[in-house]
Amino acid sequence: MASLTVERAAADEAHVIANLMQLYIHDFSALWFDREAEGELGPDGRYCDYPGLESYWSDPARGAWLFRIKGLPVGFALVNDVAHSPSPIDRAVAEFFVVRKHRRRGVGVAAAHALFGTAWGVWEAAVVRRNAGALAFWRQAAASYPGVRDIVEEDHDDAMWNGAVLRFRVG
Ligand SMILES: CC(C)(COP(=O)(O)OP(=O)(O)OC[C@H]1O[C@@H](n2cnc3c(N)ncnc32)[C@H](O)[C@@H]1OP(=O)(O)O)[C@@H](O)C(=O)NCCC(=O)NCCS
Repeated sequence: MASLTVERAAADEAHVIANLMQLYIHDFSALWFDREAEGELGPDGRYCDYPGLESYWSDPARGAWLFRIKGLPVGFALVNDVAHSPSPIDRAVAEFFVVRKHRRRGVGVAAAHALFGTAWGVWEAAVVRRNAGALAFWRQAAASYPGVRDIVEEDHDDAMWNGAVLRFRVG
């Protein structure tokens, strides 16, 4: 993974995240096959803009990250401090994406580990129930990070979340 870079996206790179978000939503739309209102393209052939994306540059508790290989985008992450369960956290991976061409080669785990290295404390990854592959991914990413401890996996079906919530302490 020598050529992978994981860097904070600058405000003038928000459009790169927005473009990748279209691909991300397309992936998720397959999970929403039975939901009338979600996962439909607009008349212009684009999905809705991600609500509050600009807050990832104005709110100091949030950050947008770009993954690149040989300088070209291969994925992104949005990190905030919004928990999906009543348990307190320091950081949450709100969104995380690797383009299909580069999947199953360790890009996701390497990028996740780079993120974990940016902040000590309790991290959370919440995974929607239908996204079984992502749950396997986060289990692997958390368990393989050196020094990670207190890994907790909960199954939620409540007003806050429907699916798995993984928490673990870094540092
Ligand atoms: C989930 C995602 C980020 C994984 O990225 P990736 O670069 O392919 O992940 P890695 O190659 O680092 O995978 C590491 C390990 O995670 C597990 N894993 C990853 N994707 C998996 C899948 N689809 N099914 C089962 N296990 C999976 C495997 O154990 C894998 O190791 P292996 O390939 O040696 O079996 C990517 O598939 C993606 O962007 N999916 C769409 C968006 C999404 O669901 N994001 C997560 C939201 S919570």
